[in-house]
Amino acid sequence: MSRQFSCDTVEAVGAVLNDWSKALDERFRALFTLRGIATREAIAQIARGFSDPSALLKHECAYCLGQIGDPAALGVLTRVLGDKDQDPMVRHEAGEALGAIGDPSCGRILEEHSKDAAQEVAETCQIALERLRWLRCPERESFVDTNPYSSVDPAPPLTTGDVRQWQEMLNDTSHSLFSRYRALFSLRNHGGPDAALALATGLGDSSALFKHEIAYVLGQMKEPGVVSALSRSLRDPSEEAMVRHECAEALGSIATQECLEILREFRGDGERVVRESCEVALDMLDYEKSSEFQYANTVRLSDVTTTH
Ligand SMILES: [Fe+2]
Ligand SMILES: [Fe+2]
Repeated sequence: MSRQFSCDTVEAVGAVLNDWSKALDERFRALFTLRGIATREAIAQIARGFSDPSALLKHECAYCLGQIGDPAALGVLTRVLGDKDQDPMVRHEAGEALGAIGDPSCGRILEEHSKDAAQEVAETCQIALERLRWLRCPERESFVDTNPYSSVDPAPPLTTGDVRQWQEMLNDTSHSLFSRYRALFSLRNHGGPDAALALATGLGDSSALFKHEIAYVLGQMKEPGVVSALSRSLRDPSEEAMVRHECAEALGSIATQECLEILREFRGDGERVVRESCEVALDMLDYEKSSEFQYANTVRLSDVTTTH
């Protein structure tokens, strides 16, 4: 973002982010504003968020630090990744953020946690390690990024193939998760209803990490044809909270009338992270609709992020 922000402004936005008495959607908007500002002061304010009681907010703080991409966040992200008192979903996002920043100095810590007792953390670190290797491989030289979104992804798309081939690879567990993620992002970048439906076939996988990433990209794609697949996972009480939360956020992003009704239904869910995801999605949609939708010098939500 080219606009200059004074330290006082950044501090004021950081105070909103870190005020536990404020509504979560307001705190999320403060976080997205800080992500957009992306200065060292903004990073320091986001880093304060990790003492929060909400895993949802903390995992979004980690995601935003990864997307900003400044190595100044490596210290706090490394601490969060190694902190067993943090929710595994937050630790996962810290590991993924380290991969997104892509600094080779993270290799050791990622290696260590690639065998973490929490499966979602271990798998995240395995993928992040592969991304670090990929960033330095010869293929990278001629790589053309086809990502139509502004996200820094955990894996690059494949350079060849079609929807049928990518769907096959997506669901072939004999491949590494990194390779399957490559197929996943190929389908996401290709776009359209068929690619979205192909992606939704992965929601039956055994890895919670893999399924939550599928739900995340379906939220980016906003294809209404996958609403029933997403709501099936959200409704499944045996599904991991990490996956159900991401399905709720994707439904909030697709935002058809049917999505809103499902989100209202799960606003009182027994899992805090699911409940809060529905609450934030609904409140943000209300806020976007309201006429005063303007904050931090006209930074718009839709310009800055899809929630993770
Ligand atoms: Fe995630
Ligand atoms: Fe998430």
